[in-house]
Amino acid sequence: MNYIIFAIIAYLIGSIPFGLIVGKLGFKIDIREHGSGNLGGTNSFRVLGFKAGLLVTGSDILKGTAATVLPQIINAEVNPLVIGIFAVIGHMYPLFAKFKGGKAVATSGGVILGVNPLLFAIMLGTFFLMLYLTKYVSLASMVTGVVTVAVSIIFRETGLLIVTSLMTIFVFYRHRANIKRIINKTEPKITWM
Ligand code: G3P
Repeated sequence: MNYIIFAIIAYLIGSIPFGLIVGKLGFKIDIREHGSGNLGGTNSFRVLGFKAGLLVTGSDILKGTAATVLPQIINAEVNPLVIGIFAVIGHMYPLFAKFKGGKAVATSGGVILGVNPLLFAIMLGTFFLMLYLTKYVSLASMVTGVVTVAVSIIFRETGLLIVTSLMTIFVFYRHRANIKRIINKTEPKITWM
């Protein structure tokens, strides 16, 4: 029963479409109609600018963290990592935005932040190193997913390995169009790094 309640709460938290909210309230723009059309942090940076991008990315990360920290705070008998998966599903398929959401990156990071801050720091380092080397946010996101799985193997934590593997599958699945664009050399690169 605990699992069902916390999974629903996590899904609802993950469903909050911060990219849509910040775009519409602050700029009267639906970011799904601009840039890559994605409802995530990267497209918010691209369409709405630095401050709004930071706000959306931070909020999307915190959705995953909130969903995993909540059951820990009240000592619920659930595995917070399993609950975190439902926040990521909410982020990708949000109830409050016609089930068209983001690409699982920021909220997955937030889930890991909520259970294993060291791994989150490794993820951040990997992401920015790959971003610096390739200039592709999408590629940096996917490589970070693979590194996260590799580090989970080193940590020898089965639950963490299962959940990070699932998240990385989500990340690759949601980046199908980006993968095609990277191969075709039409994926936009960042210009600020
Ligand atoms: O976090 C999503 C990012 O990896 C790619 O986003 O908008 O460039 O498809 P976008």
